[in-house]
Amino acid sequence: MNLINDLRSNLLYMPKFNKNIIAETHPSHYMMHKYWGRKPHNVVRDYILNFTKPGDTVLDPFMGSGVVVIESLKSGRKTFGVDLNPMACFITENTISDIDFDDFDSSFQKIYQKNLELFSYLYLTKCPSCGKETLFENSVWDGEDIVKLRGTCDSCGKFTKDADNHDHKLIKESQSIFNKLDKSKKLFYPKDEILKFVKRNGKANLNQFFTERSLVVLGTIVQDIEKIKNKQTRNILQMCFTSMLPNVSKMIPGDLDSVNGKSGWVISKLWSPKVHTEKNPLNSFRERFNKVRKGKQELIGVLDNKKAQILNIDATNLKSIKNSSVDYIFTDPPYGDSIAYFGLSMFWNAWLKNKVNYDNEIIYDPCRNKKYEDYSSRMKKVFLELYRVLKNKKYLSFTFHNRNLNIWKAVMDSVTDAGFHLINVVYQEQAVASGTQGINKKNTLRGDFVYNFVKDKDIKSSNKYKVKQNDMESEVIIIKKINEWLKRANGFITSDALYEKLIPFIVENHLYSDNGNRVINIENLLRKHLDYNFVKSKNEYGWQNK
Ligand SMILES: C[S@@+](CC[C@H](N)C(=O)[O-])C[C@H]1O[C@@H](n2cnc3c(N)ncnc32)[C@H](O)[C@@H]1O
Ligand SMILES: [Zn+2]
Repeated sequence: MNLINDLRSNLLYMPKFNKNIIAETHPSHYMMHKYWGRKPHNVVRDYILNFTKPGDTVLDPFMGSGVVVIESLKSGRKTFGVDLNPMACFITENTISDIDFDDFDSSFQKIYQKNLELFSYLYLTKCPSCGKETLFENSVWDGEDIVKLRGTCDSCGKFTKDADNHDHKLIKESQSIFNKLDKSKKLFYPKDEILKFVKRNGKANLNQFFTERSLVVLGTIVQDIEKIKNKQTRNILQMCFTSMLPNVSKMIPGDLDSVNGKSGWVISKLWSPKVHTEKNPLNSFRERFNKVRKGKQELIGVLDNKKAQILNIDATNLKSIKNSSVDYIFTDPPYGDSIAYFGLSMFWNAWLKNKVNYDNEIIYDPCRNKKYEDYSSRMKKVFLELYRVLKNKKYLSFTFHNRNLNIWKAVMDSVTDAGFHLINVVYQEQAVASGTQGINKKNTLRGDFVYNFVKDKDIKSSNKYKVKQNDMESEVIIIKKINEWLKRANGFITSDALYEKLIPFIVENHLYSDNGNRVINIENLLRKHLDYNFVKSKNEYGWQNK
């Protein structure tokens, strides 16, 4: 620890930054399109403000939906945003792009009205009280059968009902329209094969995630959008379109009582429950148009998009960025095995006919033979590139929250091998729970860690600053430390509180491996020495002495 402290005090020019920033919820311009792992915008902004000056250049090599790019622009910085997933570039570009609201509004109205006229009748149902025809809002299906519907009658108000003959007739009719259009090749819809790693039930191809009725409407809308002349309008309407896709798919579970379909992805896989919801895509398209419009309005006059370069390239080769040209790097690298970005994004990419370079994705995916070695060798190349493009005596911050020490070690080794020096590790709470964090409430890590590094050629060897381990094994040191913390916390500590301390401790002291030079499995180590229990008095799960 002393050596790390020495290093810290040597770096007098380092802007002091080690606080936990309270995350704010996302404003509308971050709610235009879903993406996974979006960082709190105010945290990102504070890091940018702390480490750079106006006019400086900020890089994010794993840009995702572009929080770093957008916050850089909003604070008057220049920025490079890199992501190999075309969808990430698409969302970021459409967020920062100029927009002609008149053209956007009229193009939307034209397509919306046309499709309303063509297909509205497919969404009519009879009011169970007075028999009048009205548009339904949701229907619920059990497998291949429509069973329930929900709507609002002008005279009788809200209702839910069992599907009747008329409802079944409309399904038949939709199927025959679909077959006719399909046969004459007049309809575009993607049939891409679902990647194994994200596959969750029998559905083998993307089209199986939509009813035929939805495919007819979606396929027509997407082709109408394609014909729009103004490129910006076309792209932003395409974003309205892709952002509604999960909501109008069979991924939304069906509720047989309320017939209320929630929106969005339920789990971070391509999965459809047997009882699922079917929504009217015409309604969803209008809703998404309004959401996107609100987001675009928020950004009027707020940023200069000419200061941004969005690059749909592999971060292992940043050839278009010059040596020592970047003032600060803030990034959130892929965490190995948590979210399969490319596989999931197929749900959008395929509808836009985007070509995706699956081979070069940085990920741990056993189904594609992408093991730790692949992950770690690619990460090594990325950090070498980051070292090359960053100016000397400038900083790199990245967030990470994987508990798997193999993944950590791969990342930490890549960064230090590239020549970066660790300054500190800051625990950062997260306001909005992300996909994976939502699933297992019992034993997950809510926050993120921000690792701050410097590139400084005057510091000769990074090893010199590694903490020398005494003769004790890593495991013994770790457990000794945990016992100290447990004692202070009256014998009980939640996973979150424990990992918040443990991760910086392991990283700063290089305690990754056990005696046999195997990377420690923290979870196993904890279970060997401690009990994981629900403690009634605290109403919480956490770790206790055995
Ligand atoms: C954890 S996400 C970043 C999320 C981001 N922080 C946000 O706010 O949305 C990591 C990103 O790395 C991208 N990625 C994976 N392999 C890549 C590669 N070889 N080159 C560039 N980007 C890659 C994924 O597409 C994904 O968007
Ligand atoms: Zn009625």
